[in-house]
Amino acid sequence: MAEVVILPGTPDEAKAAAGELAADAIERVVRARPDAVLGLATGSTPLPVWSALASRPLDLSRVRGFALDEYIGLPSGHPESYRAVITREVVDTLGLDPALVHVPGDDGGPIETAGERYEAAIAAAGGVDVQVLGIGRTGHIGFNEPGSSFASRTRVKTLTAATRADNARFFSSPDEVPRHCLTQGLGTILEARALVLLAFGEAKADAVAGAVEGPVSASVPGSAIQLHPEVTVLLDEAAASKLRFADYYRDAWDNRPDWAR
Ligand code: PGA
Repeated sequence: MAEVVILPGTPDEAKAAAGELAADAIERVVRARPDAVLGLATGSTPLPVWSALASRPLDLSRVRGFALDEYIGLPSGHPESYRAVITREVVDTLGLDPALVHVPGDDGGPIETAGERYEAAIAAAGGVDVQVLGIGRTGHIGFNEPGSSFASRTRVKTLTAATRADNARFFSSPDEVPRHCLTQGLGTILEARALVLLAFGEAKADAVAGAVEGPVSASVPGSAIQLHPEVTVLLDEAAASKLRFADYYRDAWDNRPDWAR
C-alpha cells in the first residue's frame, strides 16, 4: 500500500527533505494539469511542503484547493481560523488565486448543511488530486477523531480534549480553542487520487505506527490510509521510531527501481 520514507538527518533536515518530496509529488500533478486540485492541511507539519513548493519555478495560479477542516465558533477573521491560516500560509506563500481555494463552511451558508455543500464543491471540481495530511496524537487525519466512520463525509465533529490541548499553543488560552469543527470525512479523504502524509517528532510515533502498521480501525482514524492505493508517508526518525518494519521501508526506498526515482 504505502511508500514509507524515513528521512535521515537532524529534525530540520528531515523536515526539509520531506517537504521537497511532497513538493515533487505536487509539482508532477500541476505540470500535468495546471488547474490541479490540492487537498490542503493546516498545522505545523505541512509548512515545509509549502516553503519547498514556493521556491520552485512553477505556475500555481490556476491550482484549486480544498482545506481539510475548519473550527466552528471563532469570530470571523480570527487569525487562527483555518480560513486565515490557509490564506496566510498557503495562498499567500504559493501565490494561489484566493477565489479558487475553499475551506469548509466559508461559503456563508448554514452550518448544518455546510458539509453537503463542501462535498458538492469538491465533486464539481472533479475531486482532489493530491491530499496533504498531517496526523494528530489521537491518530486523527483532518479532524476525524477516534470513532470516525471510514465512510464519513464532511460534517461537524467534536474535538477531543487531547487535540484541543495540542492546539492551545495557537491561542492565548486553552479555553479559547473551539470544541467543534467541520472536517472532511475519512470517506472524503480516501477519494483523493493520492495521499501524502507527513509526521515529525516523537509525539507522533504511536499515531504513525497505528496508522501505518496497526489494525485498520476507527479507533485510529489515520489507519484508513491502509485502504488507499496511492499513499506516501514522509517521516523523520523520531516519528518512525515505533515502526516494526522500519528497516524494510528504508531498504525499499534506498533500492527503489530507477523508474520510481
Ligand atoms: P500538527 O497537527 O501538524 O500541528 O502537528 C497535525 C494534526 O493535528 O493533524
